[in-house]
Amino acid sequence: MSATSAEHATPLLLSPESVNPLVAAARPDPSAGTRARPQPRRLIVAITGATGVAYGVRLLQFMREMPEIESHLLISDAGVLNLHQELDMRRKEVEALADVSYNVRDVGASIASGSFQSDGMIVAPCSMKTLAAVANGLSDNLITRAADVVLKERRRLTLMVRETPFNLAHLRNMTSVTEMGGIIFPPLPGFYHRPKSINEMIDHTVGRVLDLYGITHTLTPRWAGMKADSKMDT
Ligand SMILES: Cc1cc2nc3c(=O)[nH]c(=O)nc-3n(C[C@H](O)[C@H](O)[C@H](O)COP(=O)(O)O)c2cc1C
Repeated sequence: MSATSAEHATPLLLSPESVNPLVAAARPDPSAGTRARPQPRRLIVAITGATGVAYGVRLLQFMREMPEIESHLLISDAGVLNLHQELDMRRKEVEALADVSYNVRDVGASIASGSFQSDGMIVAPCSMKTLAAVANGLSDNLITRAADVVLKERRRLTLMVRETPFNLAHLRNMTSVTEMGGIIFPPLPGFYHRPKSINEMIDHTVGRVLDLYGITHTLTPRWAGMKADSKMDT
């Protein structure tokens, strides 16, 4: 065979797999079957720089006691500041509560893709800056990208927004997120269960957030109706 004809023959001998190993990887292995192993429940938790980082920490502490839930944690730089300011906690201590932690600048991490399966995401607490980014599809870091992915995949996104009072931009951004299917959950304490400590108030709120994900817990006392003597006085 002449060199010229061999050169012509070579491309015919090349399979798509030998040209690109990704093609081979994508081909189903007939012996492997198609059933994936069951996934644990996965929740992404982000702590941003609004006051109330205790909500995020409490969520992580709760999930740590639940081996069936895998927690994936993100903390913004301002969130780290508030962990110091409000709880005297360092980033590493909080990260130790989570199953997996990410750098907010790592926009190539697994949770930046819709192919990463999760039950959704909770931003606890959520600053007005992060709210604004999510409301406008501005995926400028891994927190806002992960939230964007959760929304596009129609999974549950809860933003525990915290500011007071609100300006019109805040209110409009909350409306936008709600229109996209996200849940705006300002951590506003209730008093009807007569909390005896800040921890009880936090647990009550965290429990109501967990309710949104169908996670069973005993953090929130359940309302059983008014006491009879309260009704008598009306
Ligand atoms: C002590 C402290 C408390 C803050 N509290 C709030 C707050 O309650 N709500 C808010 O939207 N921003 C608050 N901020 C400002 C945010 O941290 C700031 O806008 C930051 O850029 C948010 O960035 P992030 O969303 O990436 O965490 C606070 C900042 C500090 C230092």
